[in-house]
Amino acid sequence: MKIFLDTANIEEIKQAARIGVISGVTTNPSLLAKETGIGFEEAVREICAMVDGPVSAEVTSLDAEGMVREAMEIATWARNVAIKIPITASGLEATRKLSVEGVRTNLTLCFSPNQALLAALAGATFVSPFVGRLDDVGHDGMQVVADTVEIFRNYGIQTEVIAASIRHPLHVTAAAKARAHIATVPFKVLMQMIQHPLTDAGIKKFMEDWGKFVGMSA
Ligand code: E4P
Repeated sequence: MKIFLDTANIEEIKQAARIGVISGVTTNPSLLAKETGIGFEEAVREICAMVDGPVSAEVTSLDAEGMVREAMEIATWARNVAIKIPITASGLEATRKLSVEGVRTNLTLCFSPNQALLAALAGATFVSPFVGRLDDVGHDGMQVVADTVEIFRNYGIQTEVIAASIRHPLHVTAAAKARAHIATVPFKVLMQMIQHPLTDAGIKKFMEDWGKFVGMSA
């Protein structure tokens, strides 16, 4: 399973890219709203230059024509951009048109396997079931990921499943066990995945013992 970073924060992307484990980035209007002093186009261009893999940038039109117009413009900003489109009738119509044009899409705000299936049938490159937001309302978000992956495998559907709205490291493990192609994780969760108190304690002990060894052999 690949890991994408779910943020529009340039510093976080820089740090994660340096570590070398992320294969893409997802943004949305709410994530962009947390960043100050940078415009949409500038942010998308800068992020696309920082990672090789797909960078999802969301359209804000609600009608198909507007979505396609925005998407075609955004697609000129960088070769690795993917257009994020909400799963609505207009979103599916726009996705079909964009797929014919060869523009990559990430169908977002997905909350059911049926929505995911429709996204795939419309020609989506990626579909993003929102795990955390489903959990928040008492549903099993990861089951939507697992069901979607199973359905796609049943029919050899090429659309990749991104487990989104990830809230903690256990979500990432569960997404990998459910065979999601990708999990898009907030920077905080990426850091939590790296850390383990036994790793820290182990390094401390090794350093103490190394000091003793160097002291003895000096
Ligand atoms: C995914 O692409 C979305 O940007 C994101 O995962 C939404 O997460 P949230 O539910 O924490 O806002």
